[in-house]
Amino acid sequence: MALERTFSIIKPDATRRNLTGAINAKFEAAGLRVVAQKRIQLSKAQAGEFYKVHAERPFYDELCEFMASEPIVAQVLEGEGAIAKNREVMGATNPADAAEGTIRAEFAESVGENSVHGSDAPETAAVEIAYFFSGLELVG
Ligand code: CMP
Repeated sequence: MALERTFSIIKPDATRRNLTGAINAKFEAAGLRVVAQKRIQLSKAQAGEFYKVHAERPFYDELCEFMASEPIVAQVLEGEGAIAKNREVMGATNPADAAEGTIRAEFAESVGENSVHGSDAPETAAVEIAYFFSGLELVG
């Protein structure tokens, strides 16, 4: 399997509860390396741009409000098959459906406040990484 990079967000519900280290420990235990990371607070407009594929969904406004409500940690994770591996470690979007031991099973509060975001495909990973990081910030 090829060495890949994926984009990850530790969401406001998790930063608020001081879970950044606990979540990173899960990534690292799974063989994912944090190769870029920054803690920032998004504006609602910036969150809206990031999640624009969901603009027609009924939860879009609530999602953007939430993502701008408190700081997030934006990250690039690297590893063998990083996109699929990260999705496995995160667990299902709805914590009620997430497998035992996954981040969302352990930490997520609801389907909306679900602690982490991860890219779903190589194309989205590239776009999402470029939205948050310049090439100079990716040190490997
Ligand atoms: P994420 O992987 O960041 O991608 C889109 C997000 O929309 C998703 O995680 C959830 O946090 C959120 N989401 C998906 N479905 C719902 C829903 N039914 N209600 C509220 N938020 C949702």
